[in-house]
Amino acid sequence: MGTMEGLCVLECERCPALVEGRSQIVNGDGPEDADLLFVGEGPGASEDKQGEPFVGRSGAVLDEALRDVGLSRPDVRITNCVRCRPPENRDPTKEELNNCREYLEREVDLVDPELVITLGKVPSEHLLDRSVAVTKEAGDVVDARIADASRRVLISVHPAATLYDRSQAETFEGAIRKAAEIAGAVESDGGQSTLGDY
Ligand code: URA
Repeated sequence: MGTMEGLCVLECERCPALVEGRSQIVNGDGPEDADLLFVGEGPGASEDKQGEPFVGRSGAVLDEALRDVGLSRPDVRITNCVRCRPPENRDPTKEELNNCREYLEREVDLVDPELVITLGKVPSEHLLDRSVAVTKEAGDVVDARIADASRRVLISVHPAATLYDRSQAETFEGAIRKAAEIAGAVESDGGQSTLGDY
């Protein structure tokens, strides 16, 4: 186990290839009691440099989609399946995903969000533990067992997928709209979950 302080991993050396290539560990960002917890794949170059998740091009797409539905970055929590940048932006391996899972599970457990939004194939398959056709299933809200609790998960395409494909942009925006509706339903109900409607 690496060293943790609250939701932050301060030190970890579990994945030799990632330890070698990273500049720093990139922890989740946002309120520790957020209703919406977005989970990406892993840090890219910009995130590795700045030490925050989703601050590069994908982050700009996510920020804009949040703005369009009346949310902003400080309203939500954003994290990743792995906290260290994979070399050349390759997908994290199964082993790396599993090495980092404990940190992600702890974050889900302590934040206790109404909804987890998986951004792309890697986080969707990792948290649902099955193969996921993200484009087809985007917008679906499903149940998943995470850290021994049942969680509602909204599947989404990754924001980067929208950069070259307009139809993916619509799919992404639709999923973010649904997340905002769910967050709104939670708020307008005074904190009582109305997720059963979804
Ligand atoms: N893509 C991700 O999946 N996560 C980030 O933090 C940035 C880009």
